[in-house]
Amino acid sequence: MKIIHISDIHLTIPGEEMGGLDPHARLSQALAHVASNHPDAARIIITGDLAHWGEKAAYEALQRALADLRIPVRLLIGNHDNRTTFLSVFKDHPTDRAGFVNHAETLDGHRFIYLDSVGERTHAGHFCEARRAWLQNELSNCERARLFLHHNPMLLGLPASDQIALVESDRPQFRELIAEHSAKIDYIHFGHVHAPIHGCFAGVPFASVPSTGNQSIPDFDEADLLKGAPMAPSYFVLLIHGCDTTIHQMPFTWEGPIVTTGTGWEDWAKPNEAAE
Ligand SMILES: [Fe+2]
Repeated sequence: MKIIHISDIHLTIPGEEMGGLDPHARLSQALAHVASNHPDAARIIITGDLAHWGEKAAYEALQRALADLRIPVRLLIGNHDNRTTFLSVFKDHPTDRAGFVNHAETLDGHRFIYLDSVGERTHAGHFCEARRAWLQNELSNCERARLFLHHNPMLLGLPASDQIALVESDRPQFRELIAEHSAKIDYIHFGHVHAPIHGCFAGVPFASVPSTGNQSIPDFDEADLLKGAPMAPSYFVLLIHGCDTTIHQMPFTWEGPIVTTGTGWEDWAKPNEAAE
């Protein structure tokens, strides 16, 4: 099974830039790249920061951008999103009984869990009792699980970025729940950090995908300021075979030369030596 993981598209009112670039053009470029290279993908999963200012026109633009896709899309919200406005545009989008944008589905016998980690007017992640109960129920009632959310639910060793990870008060409960079910959770996928960061948490591997917009630069000392740059964006292709996962990072804006080499692999002689 092939899954496309995209994150942090930060859409604006069309015509407005974000961080010096057009987020709508970037999203279109990413989706076109997916459509032409991965038409066999089972899902496109966008893990939040759908709209930078949470504006209705941005969500309407997202709706239009997704309208003609042949691959089913799953959406999560992030700290820049406005849950109410998002749901006013994506009217039929599933929520849990408490109104969080929590949803889940079973693909090939594996539960894909989409967790809403957004708090009110805060960039940090939240995992309240209602969401803990919802996730506990999902994890308890499935054979295998794969978890998607917006925020990094663990510290990443980047002091400034870690200020807006899942809040300290909610991290123990999250970790405890993941540790309890770690034997059945294949992976945790998130966005938020605008960078590819990989590791293992409570016995479960995790990966964050870069943004389709600006990228962050890891700073292990800076305590307050996030650092970023308009470096090349990418999305992830997840290849899933049973409980196994391989992740590829796709640089979808590269327009320079692409070097191809032969597949015979009988290339032991250095070219100038071969010519002698
Ligand atoms: Fe973001």
